[in-house]
Amino acid sequence: MDFADYVSSPTHSLDTLAVHAGREDLVALGVHVPPLDQSSTYPLPSIAAGGAAYERMATGARPGDDDSLVYQRLWNPNVDRFERGVARLEKADAGVAFASGMAAITACLLAAVSAGRPHIVAVRPLYGGTDHLLATGLLGTRVTWATAEEVGAKVRDDTGLVIVETPANPSLELVDIRAIVRAAGDVPVLVDNTFATPVLQQPIALGAALAVHSATKFLGGHGDLLGGVVATSHDWALRLRQVRALTGGLLAPTAAYQLHRGLQTLPMRVHGQQSRAKIVANWLAEQPEVEGVSYPGLNECDPTGLVGTQMSGPGSVLSFTMAGGYAAATVVAESCRLITHAVSLGGVDSLIQHAAALTHRPVAAYAKPDAALLRLSVGLEDPADLIADLAQALRASRSGPDNASSIETPSLVGV
Ligand SMILES: Cc1ncc(COP(=O)(O)O)c(C=O)c1O
Repeated sequence: MDFADYVSSPTHSLDTLAVHAGREDLVALGVHVPPLDQSSTYPLPSIAAGGAAYERMATGARPGDDDSLVYQRLWNPNVDRFERGVARLEKADAGVAFASGMAAITACLLAAVSAGRPHIVAVRPLYGGTDHLLATGLLGTRVTWATAEEVGAKVRDDTGLVIVETPANPSLELVDIRAIVRAAGDVPVLVDNTFATPVLQQPIALGAALAVHSATKFLGGHGDLLGGVVATSHDWALRLRQVRALTGGLLAPTAAYQLHRGLQTLPMRVHGQQSRAKIVANWLAEQPEVEGVSYPGLNECDPTGLVGTQMSGPGSVLSFTMAGGYAAATVVAESCRLITHAVSLGGVDSLIQHAAALTHRPVAAYAKPDAALLRLSVGLEDPADLIADLAQALRASRSGPDNASSIETPSLVGV
């Protein structure tokens, strides 16, 4: 094994790979961190060589060693490094990165449509944006919603993908990936792995064809970029790069640089946030103002024991419902001071938000999250400080909103 291969040898542990994967050639380049290449275009050695390189990359292949990279929409070295890093962590052949999680999911759906299989079987709950995209059929897909148990019965000859999210946004419900893969038969299974990250769950090793991330969340980890990535087989990577080259959803080089750097601390952040979330979840479950807590680390939320088998830990996102309903949930979200009232999740700072009114606003009424539900993403703050903040917010909800009559159940966009 040569030096470059040894640096990210698959025999290394995930902690080691997180630090080194995608950096195999740095020593040969004589640098310690990846150079940031922001070129939008590249010099062409000749028309013939440039054209051949263009052809290769536009049809999804990697550039050859001596190829001009031609144009950033076809290839970028920082994007490639991040993709190789994610692929190693996800135990996949390849990664393909996009401008956002939704751009990544869009590319997977377009690849299914262009293969003549526009029918999608999707297990709710899903992130509201994914749900909305499928429900509208904007990309030419036709969705059949299914429970995890119904997947086998809903798959048809023209089914291009089975889509699941586990843990799911925002209910934190878990889906047995192996069971879904068995039920799907020949149909590729896409697992949105955003909440678990490859640190806690590796869907490809469980038989999924595609592990998708909103890289905006844990992979980035600091709330300062948007990105998406798909870990998959060489064959799927070829198809997805082709879609990306045609539709232009490429991850920006600066975001790829930040994401690649973010991978180095991913295992530490995921474990650190998780240990804090366990404390916060247990505390919330004891509070009289809280009707119920949904967190895979609580036994009642993991009836089939997927934590410890499919997932190595419960993660750091949880949701809870307020006994006082929507009005109380409103007061809690708006009263938090240390915890920011904002959408998104997975970063080093804690965020709280009302799913039905925001992230899941476009979901059809019958499938929308409970109006009393708040989603909390636990960051790296001291759990005692997080609990103190939540305690004062729960106390505020006891006396009710200052002006109860001004609070109404949100009027939500139907699809
Ligand atoms: C589980 C999940 N998947 C996909 C997305 C979409 O990702 P992005 O916002 O990066 O487009 C989100 C965003 O919140 C998400 O939570």
